[in-house]
Amino acid sequence: MNATVDLTGKVTLITGATGGVGRAVATAFHTAGARLALVSRSHDRLENLAAKVGLDDTGCILREADLRDPAQAERLVAETVSCFGRLDIVLNLIGSWEAGRLATTSDERWQDVLATNLHSVFYVMRAAAVHLPDDGVILNIGGELPIEGRGGQLAYAVAKSGVITLTKSAALELKERGIRVNALLPKNVDTPLNRTLRPNGDASLWVQPEQVANVLLFLASPAAAAITGALIPLDGRE
Ligand SMILES: NC(=O)c1ccc[n+]([C@@H]2O[C@H](COP(=O)([O-])OP(=O)(O)OC[C@H]3O[C@@H](n4cnc5c(N)ncnc54)[C@H](OP(=O)(O)O)[C@@H]3O)[C@@H](O)[C@H]2O)c1
Repeated sequence: MNATVDLTGKVTLITGATGGVGRAVATAFHTAGARLALVSRSHDRLENLAAKVGLDDTGCILREADLRDPAQAERLVAETVSCFGRLDIVLNLIGSWEAGRLATTSDERWQDVLATNLHSVFYVMRAAAVHLPDDGVILNIGGELPIEGRGGQLAYAVAKSGVITLTKSAALELKERGIRVNALLPKNVDTPLNRTLRPNGDASLWVQPEQVANVLLFLASPAAAAITGALIPLDGRE
């Protein structure tokens, strides 16, 4: 059990669970007592994660889904509710960073980056919102100030700007039901992918995945009941 956050019994759907951030988040929410529905396109990666975290069938389900497809997002949410009888918390950690400039981004890459980083989040939120209770929580991940633009990663920046507007707009719509919607805006997180992409970076200054998990735990807890529509920068020490 996490020393400060108790989410015993809370059913938590985590997209992007097999990613560098998702693995730490799944571990932290399991430790806090949540029951988990973990999602990825790869059954093997989900099995590896479950084994590493020490998850068993009683408090966790593993689901393969390609969340660029709205039908798969609907099915995922329906299966989670069917399995656990409820859904309390949605953590949208899905994403895929990709470089690309205005002149060289193909139609196919534009559509795929938008589908992976933005449309997927919308599909899961839309499917989940009808099931969430009055103290339900949705937490998304944007990125470091994409609203100011980001040359060289054009489609990704546009998608993350969309996640920010989606978060704030849904927070306004769902506020009357007591459902809270917030987003984190991390700078570089110390993930294996970032270590590969930035071999000369100083990872000791980056945000640790466990620090992302701690903020998500807080935002998912009753202690954060007054917070909705917030965009929370996680700058680490950069
Ligand atoms: N790492 C950073 O420095 C950083 C900074 C700012 C924001 N973020 C954001 O934080 C989130 C987590 O980042 P991360 O570093 O953990 O990313 P990551 O390691 O690349 O993991 C991405 C996750 O998304 C899943 N995914 C990708 N495409 C999918 C699809 N079509 N359907 C279903 N699942 C899919 C992947 O699962 P499978 O491949 O197994 O399907 C994986 O679990 C992302 O939204 C990212 O944009 C990260």
